Amino acid sequence: MAYGGYSYIEKYTPQKDDFVTVLWVKGDAPFNTLAEGLAAESSVGTWTKLTTMKDNVWKNLRARVFKTVKITKNSGFVYIAYPYDHFDSKNILQILASIRGNIYGLKEIRELKLLDWKIPEKFQRQFSGPKFSIKEIRKIVGTKKRPHVGTIVKPKVGLSAKEWAKVAENAFLGGLDMVKDDENLVDQKFCRWEDRAHRTIEAAESIKSETGDGKIYVPNITDFMPNMLERIDWLVDHDWRMCMIDVYVMGLTGLKEVIDELHKKKFLIHAHRAGHGAETRGAWGVGYAFWEKIYRLFGVSSLHTGTGVGKMEGSEFEIQKYAEIATATNIKKDSPFFLDFKWHKNIRPIMPVASGGLHSGLMEGLSEIYGTEFTAMAGGGVHGHPEGTIGGARGHRAASEAIGEGVSLYDKAKEVRQLKQALDKWGYVTRKETKKRLAQQKAKFKKNSHKFGYNLDKVVGLH
Ligand code: 3PG
Repeated sequence: MAYGGYSYIEKYTPQKDDFVTVLWVKGDAPFNTLAEGLAAESSVGTWTKLTTMKDNVWKNLRARVFKTVKITKNSGFVYIAYPYDHFDSKNILQILASIRGNIYGLKEIRELKLLDWKIPEKFQRQFSGPKFSIKEIRKIVGTKKRPHVGTIVKPKVGLSAKEWAKVAENAFLGGLDMVKDDENLVDQKFCRWEDRAHRTIEAAESIKSETGDGKIYVPNITDFMPNMLERIDWLVDHDWRMCMIDVYVMGLTGLKEVIDELHKKKFLIHAHRAGHGAETRGAWGVGYAFWEKIYRLFGVSSLHTGTGVGKMEGSEFEIQKYAEIATATNIKKDSPFFLDFKWHKNIRPIMPVASGGLHSGLMEGLSEIYGTEFTAMAGGGVHGHPEGTIGGARGHRAASEAIGEGVSLYDKAKEVRQLKQALDKWGYVTRKETKKRLAQQKAKFKKNSHKFGYNLDKVVGLH
């Protein structure tokens, strides 16, 4: 089998400095032809043999399909290795134009998903990683073990700056560690950015000076570059070095530029991933693991990684993998969908943030997925509480304390009225239930590693 006159499938062991990708593909040609097409079009080849092909190009720069897992005669998983020198140094855009480029336009291909990639340490070494890692985030808040809890002020948009800041203040007073703007709130005319930021920073600072509790407030600065730079300067003038950016909608050039600026000014960067679902869901596009690695590499401090138990798509297994990509240094391959991975020591652990449809009754389930190293953000789950924002915040804080103390939510709710109200209103997903679901998802591909093509939707969101 060959594509464009060359064969790309071979016996090969990826080298330490190779980039590696894993893709799901399905199409109108035999599986091996599809696999070769992916390697060719993302590296040195094209649809026909070339009179200009040189031995050294073929030998040193071609991609190699070193493993395939055939599911049907025209679908399966393809593992491709690329030599380091195939790519431009530090230029992730050029890499994307190869491994997430032309291949998506090939007409024989019906389904294509770049599920994961290995970025060699040699490449990672060129980046400095986050200024605030989990350790420094915990230091700001003053916690050791319990997960952090926070809220997104709701309604998403519409409150005035004064109303917004009052809700944020109540959330902090109720015991939440973090408050964030929603992904679609920046500087609308009914809630000007500076006014909102000013009032909320004042509230956070005054609570800190009264109670000693450090608070994280991340105003959303997402915009075109000159406006983001203005907001960064404003925050520096007000001695507040924390903010939020919508990392996916911004595009990589803007993202890299704004992160570099924020690093220079020593900011904690909270990253919201709104919009990623446009390409991370289903059997077409790019898996979230791919983007997440770029965000950690670029140096955000905390990043949305899904919930598994909340309102957004994503199985418990998948979310556990995203938690691992955020917090671990060595990631061991435990399924066909994700690769072995080692972070360079500069690229320190970042705080995974679970958000989307959360409430206090989901904290045990979340902790089964994440352990204790995560932030649980609840919008509706705080402001929809029977006792309002303060009550919701108290209940949510109590839930995080229960996790830190190793006590069940059920027992903690006997002591904290607001937690009991939350469980009564929204229900309670136990640790045991989540553990069972995780085990079922993992068993699926362990037992059927050669034919896990069925039911992939339940595991990694394919189909
Ligand atoms: C987010 O920013 O993640 C969402 O706005 C979450 O809102 P919710 O907790 O009300 O689902």
